[in-house]
Amino acid sequence: MSPLRVPLLAILVSMALCQYYDYDYQPVPMLGPSGPNCNQECECPINFPSAMYCDSRNLKFVPIVPTGIKYLYLQNNQIDEIKAGVFDNVTAELRWLILDNNQITNAKIAKGTIDKLTGLEKLYFSHNNLTEPVIPPSKALEELRIMSNKLSKFPSGLLTDKENLTSINLQHNQLTSDGISGAFKGPKKLLSLDVSHNKLKKLPTGLPISLEILYADYNDIDSVGSGFLNKLPSLQYLRISHNKLVDSGIPAGVFNVSSLVELDLSFNKLQSIPEINEHLEQLYLQANEINKIDLASFCKLTGPLNYSRLKHLRLDANNVTHSSMPPDSSNCLRQASDIMFE
Ligand SMILES: *[C@@H]1O[C@H](CO)[C@@H](O)[C@H](O)[C@H]1NC(C)=O
Ligand SMILES: *[C@@H]1O[C@H](CO)[C@@H](O)[C@H](O)[C@H]1NC(C)=O
Ligand SMILES: *[C@@H]1O[C@H](CO)[C@@H](O)[C@H](O)[C@H]1NC(C)=O
Ligand SMILES: *[C@@H]1O[C@H](CO)[C@@H](O)[C@H](O)[C@H]1NC(C)=O
Ligand SMILES: *[C@@H]1O[C@H](CO)[C@@H](O)[C@H](O)[C@H]1NC(C)=O
Ligand SMILES: *[C@@H]1O[C@H](CO)[C@@H](O)[C@H](O)[C@H]1NC(C)=O
Repeated sequence: MSPLRVPLLAILVSMALCQYYDYDYQPVPMLGPSGPNCNQECECPINFPSAMYCDSRNLKFVPIVPTGIKYLYLQNNQIDEIKAGVFDNVTAELRWLILDNNQITNAKIAKGTIDKLTGLEKLYFSHNNLTEPVIPPSKALEELRIMSNKLSKFPSGLLTDKENLTSINLQHNQLTSDGISGAFKGPKKLLSLDVSHNKLKKLPTGLPISLEILYADYNDIDSVGSGFLNKLPSLQYLRISHNKLVDSGIPAGVFNVSSLVELDLSFNKLQSIPEINEHLEQLYLQANEINKIDLASFCKLTGPLNYSRLKHLRLDANNVTHSSMPPDSSNCLRQASDIMFE
């Protein structure tokens, strides 16, 4: 093989790996020694020796992780146990731990394993059998995913020192409002929280003011606390579809904040359109019980500079039609290119 062809091959190999694995790692397109000893059960690509791939091979427990491994892929196995000592040689250097699609319970996670990982940045623990969150001591944690487990609570204080945490995914658990009280206090850079498909009766409180995305679809929420959004000055995307919202649970002006770009209130029991801010661009209200359209929900004043920035408005599956639109609505809703009634 000519020297010129070597880098090309390396790039092709790393591209093929990228396509094969769903989990996006940062490939290092460089040939080198195979680095650390790889566990015999797993594969460590020659051009990316700090990654160990142990996914999809019917493993029953987490294999011993050799020195030098930073990215560990264990998804799609039958792991139900994490034995003591497996991470002893990588406690400070392990950055990514991917454990999705296994059967791990809290009781079978030995002391001195995850609770010793001080450099972890990503922890993916979705589709397991956890009843309580597992949080490493790492202050570098950036992304936490514990979807589709059996969490009923997320005790407060677990995230207080996670200064770099930006994203938390907890959808499809059994979280209750009492069970998450104070849970998300602390992470000052948190951008996104997804608590959809849980058992919440109200939106989570005590959220960091950095939050931009909050998804709480498919819960049992019937009201929004007054001033809820005033405490979240950066929030742009709020989804509360498939809940039990009723007019009496929506305090006047609660959604009238200028940061919001998208508001999804579809599949609830609202009979009127809540007041929204002029800056809102997407409003989803389909499948409610709305029976009147009051322009004051969108514009208190209409003029050359006072109008709604709404672009998309869904009103289908309600008790209103095109003819319910007030005659002067085209001025207030001048940017709404897409209003759906059916
Ligand atoms: C862990 O590190 C020790 C000391 O460097 C070494 O002797 C041992 O072989 C390592 N174990 C593994 C599994 O890498
Ligand atoms: C994990 O949960 C699944 C589905 O609920 C269940 O079938 C399985 O037996 C559980 N495994 C363990 C180890 O608890
Ligand atoms: C947080 O991220 C910044 C920027 O990437 C980094 O410099 C800092 O060390 C991280 N903090 C921790 C505790 O790892
Ligand atoms: C939203 O609040 C602003 C003041 O913050 C007010 O001027 C405006 O009329 C309100 N919009 C609606 C639709 O209630
Ligand atoms: C409404 O228009 C007036 C001028 O006509 C302007 O001073 C005011 O800021 C506008 N209000 C909003 C909320 O854009
Ligand atoms: C739907 O609207 C019509 C006309 O406004 C009204 O007569 C009817 O009672 C409404 N139905 C429901 C279920 O609200």
